Amino acid sequence: MYRTHTCGKLTTTDVGQEVTLSGWVHRRRDHGGLIFIDLRDRYGITQVVFDPSGNKDAHISAESIRSEFVITIKGVVRGRPEGQSNKEMSTGEIEVLADFIEILSRAQTPPFEIDQDKEVGEDVRLKYRYLDLRRQRMKKNIELRHRVIKSIRDFLDKEEFLEIETPILIKGTPEGSREYIVPSRIYPGTFFVLPQSPQQLKQLLMVAGMDKYFQIARCFRDEDQRGDRQPEFTQLDLEMSFIDEDDIMNLNERLLIKLLTDNVPNKEILKTPVPKLTWHDAMSKYGSDKPDLRFEMPLSDVSDIVSNSEFKVFSGTIQHGGVVKCLRVSNGADMPRSETDSYEELAKSYGAKGLAYLSWKDGEVKGPIAKFLSEDELKRIQERTEAVEGDNVFFMADRFDLACNVLGAVRLKIADKLGLRDDSKLALCWIVDFPMFELDEETGNFSAAHHPFTSPKHEDAELLTTDPAKARSKAYDLVMNGVEIAGGSIRIHDAALQSKVFDALGISKEDAKLRFGHMLEAFSYGAPPHGGIAWGLDRFIMLLADEPNIREVIAFPKDQKAKDIMTGAPTELPAEQVAEMHIKVSLPKA
Ligand code: AMO
Ligand code: AMP
Repeated sequence: MYRTHTCGKLTTTDVGQEVTLSGWVHRRRDHGGLIFIDLRDRYGITQVVFDPSGNKDAHISAESIRSEFVITIKGVVRGRPEGQSNKEMSTGEIEVLADFIEILSRAQTPPFEIDQDKEVGEDVRLKYRYLDLRRQRMKKNIELRHRVIKSIRDFLDKEEFLEIETPILIKGTPEGSREYIVPSRIYPGTFFVLPQSPQQLKQLLMVAGMDKYFQIARCFRDEDQRGDRQPEFTQLDLEMSFIDEDDIMNLNERLLIKLLTDNVPNKEILKTPVPKLTWHDAMSKYGSDKPDLRFEMPLSDVSDIVSNSEFKVFSGTIQHGGVVKCLRVSNGADMPRSETDSYEELAKSYGAKGLAYLSWKDGEVKGPIAKFLSEDELKRIQERTEAVEGDNVFFMADRFDLACNVLGAVRLKIADKLGLRDDSKLALCWIVDFPMFELDEETGNFSAAHHPFTSPKHEDAELLTTDPAKARSKAYDLVMNGVEIAGGSIRIHDAALQSKVFDALGISKEDAKLRFGHMLEAFSYGAPPHGGIAWGLDRFIMLLADEPNIREVIAFPKDQKAKDIMTGAPTELPAEQVAEMHIKVSLPKA
């Protein structure tokens, strides 16, 4: 028998018992005579003592033990001597006096210390992920992830959802990013793609009458990597029939609050019910469609004030259909030049032409653009932005989206600097009334802002033909602390409306048939009104765990260049194996 107890189990109530424990050697301390071993498994750490006056053989073996050896020990539980107990640990008041030890497996010296959560380079951590997972930080994250997923399953089961698996080898689903493709051996020259999400399949499950579906679904997207993106990630995907936006938002809000109160009870949820902001208001006021609402610092708009200004950067932009947005920074007037420059750099990295500012200091208005603005303009700007002595105001003149986005990014950077993004607080919001379409500046074509099955708002259906850029959709996103944790929509279940949307997207009848024929056909057999949502589970758990990126909550993630550095994948394959797939490799010239 390897163990009577785990390493996290024994307490003072077990004193006097004969026990067997197995685990990894977390630490070994040799005190001349006495040898102490901290024995570790997933459940905890138990202190084991070898006394030279006890079993000699056991003591000699214990001397040869090194960190991370896997061992079994037998012995008797005893209370720790006065002053040596450790109240932080569940097993901190006992130790096991061992009279037997067996080495089950030896270990090389690990490339980093397991017993300390010291900073270790991420490449090394990922290469030896199985060792990294032994460490406390990762173990806690993996346990948290398990508990969150378990709660989701329990909650949705009570709500009569069915958990249904959908295939991984599918036909492309238009979610907007590049797909991973899988060549077919049996049908030369044809390909499966890996799902970017189970979008089409969950809609087909609604046509099939499943009514309420969910899945903890793996999704694959071949896109540029960032801290909160992985090529392979996990969604909580769900879909419901005979519902409207509020039904979906209410259900998900109840689930969200339950997950937060169960798993991070110490964090303060700032506002419930979760506030709803329209996409336009979120952009206009916070410069983002995923605003961080842990702090206010709103943007304002002075377009009307400067539309005829002498300062052509402002008036010219407005005459070309743009806007002039502002961001007031309280007590920002003393910002050093290097700091305002750094915000201008940030703005330029978003494609801005510049970032102007004014400051109110020593009873005067200062700043490089002050001389271009009239007394009256300055006065009205001050009123509009509520600037007072000691403040400064940044200005961005450009297209609405860009001006908002740029100041939104500056807003976050300043908040970081001022420590306003406090992880002990949770600011939630729904973003609703998204535009239906996004205009591609280069091609002049519209693409679906969410996906082409998303329903327009009832009152905007006309706009699909008259002014598509103005049409709003029944899409919604759930945002927590400035991160989009979920997004979804009510779908189109009416064939005529679907063709109007395809028309607006410039998808011809033939093309629609080729790409979505199976969907359109399914919908011709009676489709219920339906809609759904998908949560980025990795992102959500990352926020609960206060981790800076989603790799920290995924057991075996890819690195930032989409590579698995533990196994080396992606790797070349033997030529025969490639040939069998009827594939020729033509590499780019170095
Ligand atoms: P969407 O594309 O918005 O919607 O994705 C839903 C959520 O998934 C998360 N997410 C990601 N997480 C990690 N790495 C990525 N590369 C990544 N991409 C997205 C985000 C996002 O909010 N089928 C629709 C949902 C629906 O309409 O029901 C969909 O996939 O947190
Ligand atoms: P310029 O006349 O180009 O030297 O710009 C004068 C000031 O306006 C500088 O502080 C620029 O950073 C700023 N600026 C230039 N273009 C814009 C713009 N589109 N929005 C806001 N500020 C700008």
